[in-house]
Amino acid sequence: MKVFISREIPDIGVRMLNNKGIETVVWNQEKLISDVELIEQLKNVDAFISTASNKINKDFFYSCSHLKVIAQFAVGYDNIDISEATKLKIPIGNTPDVLSDATADVAFMLMLNVSRKAFYMHKKIIKGEWDFFRPTGNLGIELKNKTLGVFGLGRIGMEMARRCKGAYNMNIIYYNRSHNLIAERELSARKVDFEELLKNSDIISVHSALTEQTRNKFDLATFKLMKKNSIFINTARGAIHNENDLIQALNDKIIWGAGLDVTNPEPMQPDNILLSMSNVAVLPHIGSATEEARNNMAIICAENIIAGLSNKKLPYIVNPEVYI
Ligand code: DGY
Repeated sequence: MKVFISREIPDIGVRMLNNKGIETVVWNQEKLISDVELIEQLKNVDAFISTASNKINKDFFYSCSHLKVIAQFAVGYDNIDISEATKLKIPIGNTPDVLSDATADVAFMLMLNVSRKAFYMHKKIIKGEWDFFRPTGNLGIELKNKTLGVFGLGRIGMEMARRCKGAYNMNIIYYNRSHNLIAERELSARKVDFEELLKNSDIISVHSALTEQTRNKFDLATFKLMKKNSIFINTARGAIHNENDLIQALNDKIIWGAGLDVTNPEPMQPDNILLSMSNVAVLPHIGSATEEARNNMAIICAENIIAGLSNKKLPYIVNPEVYI
């Protein structure tokens, strides 16, 4: 059996596969694999470890219907046409849970950085612009007792809410399809409608999946409903907010600041105006980038591949309907 891995993953996962006699082929060129190269590489393999950068759509499945299993090295899978995979009975795995703490840490770090303009201040020192003490200069805003609005209160949103409650005694409100009873019990979180989330939050943190319902959800109209001194944080997917509208909202002081670990497109270009704004912090999609999370993601991918190639149910499956 052979698995193609579209980007180098931590060794621990590769060793697990090799120990089971599964051959691994890794794309380690210093560029993203193209759609055509990907299909070529997958011709003679049985399984695929993908990343969120791979386009796994209808065209892909037209050429790759022979795959026995796909294990996505990410929790999000908006790059995969799940219904097409399910039609072809190809199980798709992902890596939930193990990256929740790491990603929530990034959301929390962005919130704190934006509230004190930390990335911007750091750049000022590098540019030699640290001059003298100004009582009215460099002012941030405080977070204690503020309201956190979580858009998508799943595992990562829950960890962000726990951090905000613990550190700053924040009031937690959330917008979700269903109630999160653990959050309601543990954090006194309150489920609200979208408009109330926008109007009452001091910080909005996005943790939902990218779907047709959430694409472009945060646009100028929504920013206009947010508080003037609010902070927008997105560590989920860049396409959930409209970047031009966000720039306008910040320029026109419709909202106070923004922290982004995800952009649209990725990578963000170095001349993007967001990078020079004082109340903005941008990171290059590093939510899950800790040794612990990435090792665990590799282990889960290996477990998913080993199960799939033995015709067993994947331990972390996105489309369990394939087994019906
Ligand atoms: C995820 O796991 O979905 C991360 O955002 C990496 O793509």
